[in-house]
Amino acid sequence: MSKEVILTGIRSNGELTLGNYLGAIKPMVDLQKKHAGDKQLNLFVPDLHSFITPVDHGQLYQNTLDNLKVFTAAGLNLDQPDTLVYRQSYVPAHSELAWILNCFAYMGELSRMTQYKDKSDGQANVGVGIFDYPVLMAADIVLYDAAYVPVGEDQRQHLELARDLAQRINNKFGLPLLSEPLEWSKQLEFAASFGAGTRIRSLKHPDKKMSKSVSDPAGTILLTDSPEEAAKKVMSATTDSVGVIHLDWSNQPGVSNLLTIGSLLSGKDLAAEWDGKANYGDLKAVVAAEVQQFLTDLQTKLAAVTHQQVLAALERGEAAANKTANQKLEQVQRAVGLRP
Ligand code: ADP
Ligand code: TRP
Repeated sequence: MSKEVILTGIRSNGELTLGNYLGAIKPMVDLQKKHAGDKQLNLFVPDLHSFITPVDHGQLYQNTLDNLKVFTAAGLNLDQPDTLVYRQSYVPAHSELAWILNCFAYMGELSRMTQYKDKSDGQANVGVGIFDYPVLMAADIVLYDAAYVPVGEDQRQHLELARDLAQRINNKFGLPLLSEPLEWSKQLEFAASFGAGTRIRSLKHPDKKMSKSVSDPAGTILLTDSPEEAAKKVMSATTDSVGVIHLDWSNQPGVSNLLTIGSLLSGKDLAAEWDGKANYGDLKAVVAAEVQQFLTDLQTKLAAVTHQQVLAALERGEAAANKTANQKLEQVQRAVGLRP
């Protein structure tokens, strides 16, 4: 039996934040360590998805390589044999299967996607890409018979579409042509098992998540911020007037955010250590020092990662991904009557 496949997309849309690191990059690195030798990990860059919303096309190619360098600096082992890194556009079977799946997907189900509705609302010209990209995402998943697809809640409907399309194709053409990814509740259990899904909040507006897509420089720590500057942002983080430290996201989101950031970076349980204490300034100083040390280490490691390393891993990953994806595509092409 071949190994179960974990598959996830790393979007390459520019600068990464401490939120991206703690909520996506670090969990992915931990996941790789945890499942070494036991599961197959496909970490791919959905570069064809990149321009469903406007991007700087001049930066796109470079962003992909830069993001992979950050993953490498964060500890992702590019040489682990059961990890494949690849770019979607270097594996043409993704777009080809997406076309075939398109012909079995319904306008109705795609129109109901929340992301499509949100992102197209009020726009004069809505691109077809934003409407259709869940079908491409389904192709990304079913080409590799992926069971586990760690994604955030915002992608739940898209994952469910992949399950529906796989089922629809199997029912029409006979089993078992495409495997369905596991249902949402199992995906959540899996994500929780390696720490994905943690939400880091803005340091200035702790009721909102830290995001590179929103302009909030004082609330957002970029991985490229100077360590000193980042420490200053932590020192001036918004807290509350309760006066006592508790991990309590509803009433003390600022303090809870600091406790979470500090715990994840240090590996210690700061919530337990600081519970009941009163000195917010001391807590900030501890977290600021952790952030400063973390960025210093990460940036040093990043400077040592070469483009060559990343490109070599992509070349190996893309050769392997093309082989698997082409086999699956050919089975589908035969089933739908395109091949004898
Ligand atoms: P952003 O809001 O920064 O543009 P994306 O939507 O591109 O983030 O998300 C990229 C990845 O980073 C996803 O896996 C997402 O769950 C994770 N992520 C983004 N923001 C945060 C955050 N504030 N805390 C934890 N994880 C986050
Ligand atoms: N749509 C995902 C996002 O916006 C990225 C993505 C594309 C993806 N294809 C995928 C994630 C396949 C997991 C599996 O975050």
